[in-house]
Amino acid sequence: MSKRLIIGNWKMNPPTLAEAKRIIRSTRTVAAILEHTDVVACPPYTYISSCISKKSHIVSIGSQAVSIHGGGAHTGEVSAGMLNDMGVQYVILGHSEQRAAGETDEIISKRIIATLEAGMIAVVCVGEKVRDEQGAYLDILKDQIKHTFAGVPSKYAKNVVIAYEPVWAIGAQEAMIPEQVYETSLFVKKVFSDIFSQESAMKVKVLYGGSVNFRNAGDIIRVGKVDGLLVGRESVNIPGFKELLKAVDVVVL
Ligand code: PGA
Repeated sequence: MSKRLIIGNWKMNPPTLAEAKRIIRSTRTVAAILEHTDVVACPPYTYISSCISKKSHIVSIGSQAVSIHGGGAHTGEVSAGMLNDMGVQYVILGHSEQRAAGETDEIISKRIIATLEAGMIAVVCVGEKVRDEQGAYLDILKDQIKHTFAGVPSKYAKNVVIAYEPVWAIGAQEAMIPEQVYETSLFVKKVFSDIFSQESAMKVKVLYGGSVNFRNAGDIIRVGKVDGLLVGRESVNIPGFKELLKAVDVVVL
């Protein structure tokens, strides 16, 4: 069985470098004793160099953003090559908070390609904004996935992780129920299979994200049968994340 993948999306947290160092240290301490779980932490750009160390094999480091450009006159941008050179191994792309700020499927696709060409893993977020009784959200989800991956060469499919994050469950009180996680993640895999190949779809990791915490994480893995989790708030809550990682690691499928 391949290992579960837990990715912490720190978003624009914590407010100080000292706190960031505390979070990464505690995450490493727990990750070091896990048997079936790989852990990735995605701090804001400014903390990345302090979070990367010789111990990055215990907790891999990811970025929350990347430029579509390779370098040059692009004020405020950071290239995939620069991130990779620092030891960053993952990049979160297409997050709904970026999409809401105007990021289009076309731009996301360019960022995915830049990430993959630099040799990193692209963690691509997809998810419907709302659910309806008639199932129209499935078509919306399908179109979003197709457009997001448009132009991504199939040779790179093996370096893609999909994070299924229903927008209505992000930053909410409750996560999606595990039975729905199971059904929708299967649907996401099917669409991935149609875009790339059945073989790629069998290998791709599909994570769930949206209000995951230490209480619901185990059930989402057990009943939702996803390959891992993308965790926001709980990933910067030291005691909560510690319990979450332990709860996921002991799930036997
Ligand atoms: P949340 O965020 O866990 O705080 O809901 C998840 C995400 O946005 O990736």
